[in-house]
Amino acid sequence: MLIGNDPLGYKQLTARYPQAVSLLLDGNESIEQLTELLREAGPIEHLIWLAPTTLAQDGDTDGMIRAQQGGVLGCFRLIKALLALALDQQPLEWTVITRGVLTVFGEASSRHQVVTEPVAPAHASVHGLISAMAKEYSHWRVRLVDLPEGDGWPNLDPLLLPADPRGDALACRNDVWYRQYLAPCLPLGGAVGRKGKVESLYRDGGVYLVIGGAGGIGRLWSEYLIRTRGAQVIWLGRREQNSQIDATIAELAKLGPAPRYISADASKYAALQQAVIQISAEYGRIHGVIHAAIQLEDQSLARMDQQRFTAGLVAKVDVCVRLAEVFEHQPLDFMLLFSSLQSFTKSAGQSNYAAGCTFKNAFGHYLAQHRAYPVKVINWGYWGHVGSVASEDYRRRMAEVGLGSIEGEQAMAALETLLARPLSQLTFLRTSRRLSDTFSSLELPRHPAGPFGEYGEIRPEAYPSLIARMKKHLVVDSKGVRATTQQAEAQRATIDALQGRLLYSQLQQLGWFGREREIIAEMKQRSGLMSMYYRWIDRSLDELAQRGYLHMEGGNSPTAYRVINPQPLAIEPLWTEWEAQKPDWLEQASLKAEVILAEATLRVLPEILDGRIAATDIIFPDSSMAMVEGIYKYNPVSDFFNEVLLDAMVEFVKGRLEQSPETPILILEIGAGTGGTSARAFEKLRPYQRQIGEYCYTDVSQAFLMHARQAYGLETPTSVISFSMSTSLWRSRVSRLVVMIW
Ligand SMILES: NC(=O)c1ccc[n+]([C@@H]2O[C@H](COP(=O)([O-])OP(=O)(O)OC[C@H]3O[C@@H](n4cnc5c(N)ncnc54)[C@H](OP(=O)(O)O)[C@@H]3O)[C@@H](O)[C@H]2O)c1
Repeated sequence: MLIGNDPLGYKQLTARYPQAVSLLLDGNESIEQLTELLREAGPIEHLIWLAPTTLAQDGDTDGMIRAQQGGVLGCFRLIKALLALALDQQPLEWTVITRGVLTVFGEASSRHQVVTEPVAPAHASVHGLISAMAKEYSHWRVRLVDLPEGDGWPNLDPLLLPADPRGDALACRNDVWYRQYLAPCLPLGGAVGRKGKVESLYRDGGVYLVIGGAGGIGRLWSEYLIRTRGAQVIWLGRREQNSQIDATIAELAKLGPAPRYISADASKYAALQQAVIQISAEYGRIHGVIHAAIQLEDQSLARMDQQRFTAGLVAKVDVCVRLAEVFEHQPLDFMLLFSSLQSFTKSAGQSNYAAGCTFKNAFGHYLAQHRAYPVKVINWGYWGHVGSVASEDYRRRMAEVGLGSIEGEQAMAALETLLARPLSQLTFLRTSRRLSDTFSSLELPRHPAGPFGEYGEIRPEAYPSLIARMKKHLVVDSKGVRATTQQAEAQRATIDALQGRLLYSQLQQLGWFGREREIIAEMKQRSGLMSMYYRWIDRSLDELAQRGYLHMEGGNSPTAYRVINPQPLAIEPLWTEWEAQKPDWLEQASLKAEVILAEATLRVLPEILDGRIAATDIIFPDSSMAMVEGIYKYNPVSDFFNEVLLDAMVEFVKGRLEQSPETPILILEIGAGTGGTSARAFEKLRPYQRQIGEYCYTDVSQAFLMHARQAYGLETPTSVISFSMSTSLWRSRVSRLVVMIW
C-alpha cells in the first residue's frame, strides 16, 4: 500500500509502483479516519510512506512546525491506526521515504570534498519516530530511506534494500548509498589564533541566553561560563521563578555576574521575542544562544497519545524554529543546540524524544548553512548527576548498557573542542565498559572498516597533502603520443570497420542474423551461446547496430533487432583483406598488440561462444601473458599513461620521504593484472628501494599472481606480496597505506 501525503508525492509513488493500492492523504486525518481508510483498503503486507514535499531553500522556518502535522504526526497517527487494527500482532513491511533530511557530505575535511548539499530538516523527526518504532515492533521489517532533494528516484529500487532491525536510515546521493556512523574524534584543544592563544567562540564578559538554563545541564554550563569568562547568563524557562531557582542564582552569583531568570515559553514566537527585547534592553547585545530545553515524555507507542507525543516534540522542533526566527538577523557569535545520543540509538519508549533529536540535528545543519554565525550541535550521552534523568534508577539502567555519567569538566572541554574546531556536530559520551561493548549493547551501527571506521575530522593530519607538490612537479607532455595515435588513426578506422564485418560474419556462423527480425532472448538460446557471454553479445549487437548492420528495438534495453541485410557475409574474402593489410598495421607500435589479439580471438569466435574453446586458452596460450601484455605495455598509449601515473607516484614518494624519511612506504596496486604498470614502477622505485616497506601486487586472478611471482618476484626492489581482493587482508594495513595505484 502506498501512502502519499501530498499530490506530488502521491503521483511519484503511483508512477513507480502502479500495481499497489494507494492512498492520498492530506496529513490532517485523525487516528479514527486513518483506521477506517486502512480497514477499507484491505489486508496490508507492505506499507510505503513518502514524506510530504518540502523545499530546503524556501527559508520558511515557520513552515517546518506546520510540516510536522502531515509528517511525523501523520506518521504517528498512522502507526496508532495500524495498532488499532491489531496489525502489531502481524508481520508488516515498512518503507519510509524522506528527502534531503540527512547531511551526507556535511563536514569540511582534508580528505573529503566539501559539498554544500541542501538540507530539508522538516521531516527529520520522522527518522527518530520510525527508528524507535522498529525497536518497539521488532517483527515489523523497517526500511528507512533518505533520497536527495527534488523528485529524482535512485536506479536501485529502494524496495530492494534490506530491512534494518534498528530502523536506521540509508541515504542515497548520486545513486550511491550511505549509512551514518559515529566516528571517534581526538580532542586537540582549540584552533590556535594569531596571538598563539587557543581561539574560542566564548568571549570574556559575554551575554548568553540559555533556553532551559535553570535545568541541570544548562545550570552547569552557566556555572562554567560565569567562572571562566565572567559571563552574564540569562535563563529562560516556562515556570515562574521560584525559591529553588533563587537559591541556584544566589549560589552562582558567588562566582561572577548573577544569572537572570525570565519566565517565557520559547516555543512561542511572541513570548521569545518579548524576552529577547527585554534582554537586549537590559544587557545590550546577546553573544550566544544555547538550546538546552527538553520535555521528557517517555512512553511506548502503544500507550502514547498524540498530546504526549507532541509535548516532547515541541520542546525540540518549535523551540529550534522560534530561535532561528528571532535570531535571524542578530549578529551572534554562535548558536549551540543540545541534542542527544538518542538521535543515534533511538530507543524504544522514547519515540517523541528521538524524533525531536533527529530534527534538532538536521535543523542544526540547515541553520548552519543559512546563518552567518556558527550553529553547532552537541549530542550528549548520559548525564547521571544533573538534569532530567539524574536518578538512581536511570543510572542503573544506563550502566546496564555500558553508559557512565558524563561529568562537567570533560563535557565542557568537549564543548570547547566543538566550538573551536570546524566541526558542526559532536557526540560526547562516557562509557562504563569498553567502547566497543557499549556500542554493541546500544546497537549502534559499526563502520564496516573496523570498530569505529574512519576517524573524525578533528584528527590531525599525519602528513600534509602532497597534491600541490605533485601538480607543480609533474610535467605531462602528450605531444608525442598524440602524434603517434593520430598517425595510426586512419588505419584504426579500417581495422575497426573490418573487425565489425568479421564479427557480423562469425556470428552468422552461429545462426545469428538469418531472419529479418529476431528476438534477442530467443537467439541467445537458439544459437547455443554460453550464458556467460550474454552481456558480451548485448554489447556486440549494440556495436553492430551503430555500424549499420542492425536496427535495435526496445529502447535502452533492446528486446529484438531487425537485420538490415540478411544476406550471408562470406568470411574468406574478409580474412584475405585482413591479411593483406596486416603487415602495415603490425608496424605501428600502438596497433600491433591489438591486431594480434583481435585476430586470434575472431578466428575462433564461434567456438569460443558456444563453449568448444575456452577464451582464456586463446588469450593466454599455454598460460603465457605474451598476447595480452602488449595491450598494457610496449605500446605508446599505455606506456604514456603508465609514465604519467608513475611519475606522480615517484613525486609522492619523494615528498613523503622529505616529510618523514624514516617511515617505510607501503604501496598497494589494485588490479595489477599482467604487471604492465608494475614492471615500470619497480624500475622507477629502484632509487628509493631502502625506504619502500612493501609493494603489494594484487589481483583477483590467481593466474596473474603466479605470473607476477615468476616475472618479478626475484628482481624487484621490494618484496612483492600478493593476495586476492578479498578486502579483509589489506584493511588491516590501510592505516599505514601510503600510495594506491589503481
Ligand atoms: N540529561 C541528560 O542525560 C541528557 C542527555 C542528552 C541530551 N540532553 C539534552 O540536554 C539538554 C538539557 O537537559 P537536562 O537534562 O538539563 O534537562 P532539564 O534539567 O529537564 O532542563 C530542561 C529545561 O528546559 C526547560 N524547558 C522545557 N521546555 C521549554 C520551553 N518551551 N521554553 C523554555 N524552557 C523550556 C525546562 O524548564 P520549564 O519546565 O520551566 O520550562 C527545564 O528547566 C536538553 O536539550 C536535553 O535534550 C540531556
